[in-house]
Amino acid sequence: MNKDVKEVLIGEEKLQQRVSQLAKELSAHYKDKNPLIICVLKGAVLFMSDLIKKMDIPLEIDFMSVSSYGSEMVSSGVVKIIKDLDITITGRDMVIVEDILDTGLTLNYLIRTLEERAPNSIKVCTLLLKEKDDPNMQLHVKVDYVGFTIRDEFVVGYGLDFDGYYRNLPYIGILKEEIYKNVN
Ligand code: IMP
Ligand code: MG
Repeated sequence: MNKDVKEVLIGEEKLQQRVSQLAKELSAHYKDKNPLIICVLKGAVLFMSDLIKKMDIPLEIDFMSVSSYGSEMVSSGVVKIIKDLDITITGRDMVIVEDILDTGLTLNYLIRTLEERAPNSIKVCTLLLKEKDDPNMQLHVKVDYVGFTIRDEFVVGYGLDFDGYYRNLPYIGILKEEIYKNVN
């Protein structure tokens, strides 16, 4: 797997340091609020589990799965719920934990959907934020916590996949061109 990686963009240590900082900020903000931390499957699963381990306040977790991408590397523009939350969120303080904000379609859809259920508050925590040259390529989404801002390139690792694989890399990297070409 490592041999398929062209460049390590964010190494393991740097990731963990930033996750610790975010956990500290979240713990301070959500002290005495018993937040509900929502993991957006599958990409956010590594980030969320590291994050909550570093949070020293009472909290609950739940999972939601949405799809906007098939196997391709471009968003289809369609978001649908594959797995909904188990917990009722009315009156709750929620943090949506996401792996990456690219076009913003996924988070925009999630926030709108969850707001209809009358939680007390919703904040968004994304590990990565892709910076676009053309602002029209990204919906405006209010993100409260960002791990790292990255350039507009396809990345894998630490939860993020290419065609289902590479999620278990402990760092964020960019694959060699030939790997992308092998999949149709
Ligand atoms: P958005 O809806 O375009 O903002 O994309 C959000 C979802 O697309 C993320 O949750 C990822 O699953 C996927 N995604 C976007 N960019 C990348 C990437 O560079 N690598 C892997 N997955 C990505
Ligand atoms: Mg994905």
